[in-house]
Amino acid sequence: MTSEPIRFSDGAGYDRFMGVWSRLAGQDFLDWIGPSQGQRWLDVGCGNGAFTQLIAEQCEPLRLVGIDPSEAQLAYARQQPLLQSVDFVNADAMALPFPDDAFDLAVMPLVIFFVPEPAQGVAEMARVVAPGGTVAAYAWDLEGGGFPYQSVNETLGAVGRAVPMPPSAGASRLDGLRDLWTSAGLGDIHTRVITVERTYTDFDDLWATVLGGPSAGQALAVMGEADVTRFRELLRDRLQPAGSGSITLAGRAHAIRGTRDPRGGARRSRSSPGSAR
Ligand SMILES: C[S@@+](CC[C@H](N)C(=O)[O-])C[C@H]1O[C@@H](n2cnc3c(N)ncnc32)[C@H](O)[C@@H]1O
Repeated sequence: MTSEPIRFSDGAGYDRFMGVWSRLAGQDFLDWIGPSQGQRWLDVGCGNGAFTQLIAEQCEPLRLVGIDPSEAQLAYARQQPLLQSVDFVNADAMALPFPDDAFDLAVMPLVIFFVPEPAQGVAEMARVVAPGGTVAAYAWDLEGGGFPYQSVNETLGAVGRAVPMPPSAGASRLDGLRDLWTSAGLGDIHTRVITVERTYTDFDDLWATVLGGPSAGQALAVMGEADVTRFRELLRDRLQPAGSGSITLAGRAHAIRGTRDPRGGARRSRSSPGSAR
């Protein structure tokens, strides 16, 4: 089974499917980074602005920029009242359109496994933060079963359907993240595990959430009615055997943070495509 790429084509559907999770895990991530007020932030793969909003609300940023290659995600983010002062740019993590040393922090929440060349993405973040700046990311532990919708994906597999997967799932391993940060020349590296839970009102709430989101929702959209019905019943039996009540799912993510040498040591970025922004 070959899996098709995950598409981010609906900011509102993303928000219900993953934005809620992003805010839950993102709060732990942000607290753990321990930022100061009044800093220059770059949110790489900002998506629909779910994590960007936590920065905007809690960190009094001097400058806040979000980049993402999905116009649908950016359009949703640009409509949010609390994000009106954020500069949202359509760009790729592997070629950040910013000069060296432009930010105090570059963060990549729930994105590194979507970047085709994660090492290039991390090198780019290391390039655009100033000496002493922070480069941090967190990602669902995809290979260790930490994706919150793991049970949905396993049920898809059980009915013989390919599960849409990001291109760099291995980058979410803790040792993989450490290697990436070390190779980018970052120091003072710390890691941690983030665990979160989310409760859906009932099975219908979960079902509508999955149908409207990327990932499994994409696979379901191209399945015939009978196959969808079979999948739905299998998933319900698995998650809610009693047939009533709320459903709680759990997610587990790996987080990493590191610092660029305060003395401004040599960068190891493979390219410096920054424009004059
Ligand atoms: C799971 S979402 C995370 C969004 C947001 N950071 C959050 O915490 O909710 C992954 C995002 O990565 C973006 N993305 C995919 N490939 C990317 C790339 N090469 N560079 C930057 N962002 C990318 C997608 O468009 C999507 O918005």
